[in-house]
Amino acid sequence: MTAELRERSGWADEIVGEVVLTSDEIQEAVKKLGKKITEDYHDKNLLLVAILRGASVFLADLMREIHLPLEIDFISVSSYGHLTKSSGVVRIMKDLAAPVESKHVLVVEDVVDTGLTWAYLKQIIEARNPESVKICSLLDKPETRKVPVTVDYVGFTLENKFVVGYGLDWKDQYRNLPFIMVPKKHMK
Ligand code: PRP
Repeated sequence: MTAELRERSGWADEIVGEVVLTSDEIQEAVKKLGKKITEDYHDKNLLLVAILRGASVFLADLMREIHLPLEIDFISVSSYGHLTKSSGVVRIMKDLAAPVESKHVLVVEDVVDTGLTWAYLKQIIEARNPESVKICSLLDKPETRKVPVTVDYVGFTLENKFVVGYGLDWKDQYRNLPFIMVPKKHMK
């Protein structure tokens, strides 16, 4: 761990096991994604839709690496517990603020895991007649899919590990860590 990282994350020493992605690696990937999205959407009416709460950190960085006029919106979904994780039923807790018609929607996620959230959201956003719907996820864990979704823009492909930081929580905390880590074994 660098001195800078130690200074920024010393408060979390108790939980940090292995750093999987450093802040520099994440920022580099965010820049690359922003560049590609800038190229792909240069002539399109772009709306970024972040899924609360995990995607908030990624959205804040990514939107500043997309050099185009764009809009942002937020949606919050919640599962019905065990039933949802197996059935794919997701409940909207907070809906989008505006219609998506005539917009090219790019959903911003921190992680696609089982794929259930993305499969559900894609369906409900498509039903609202946008010009297009795609997803950009910082992390993709294809090994844990329960439904066969694809991710259009991926920062990093990870194996099936429980990771925390840069928006991803552990018991609702540690989203503000600037890097992504696996917690110490005894903390899980
Ligand atoms: C996480 C993540 C995605 C979803 C992905 O959200 O932010 O939205 O799970 O999982 P899936 O592919 O298995 O559906 P979570 O429910 O943990 O809420 P949070 O973003 O508020 O932490």
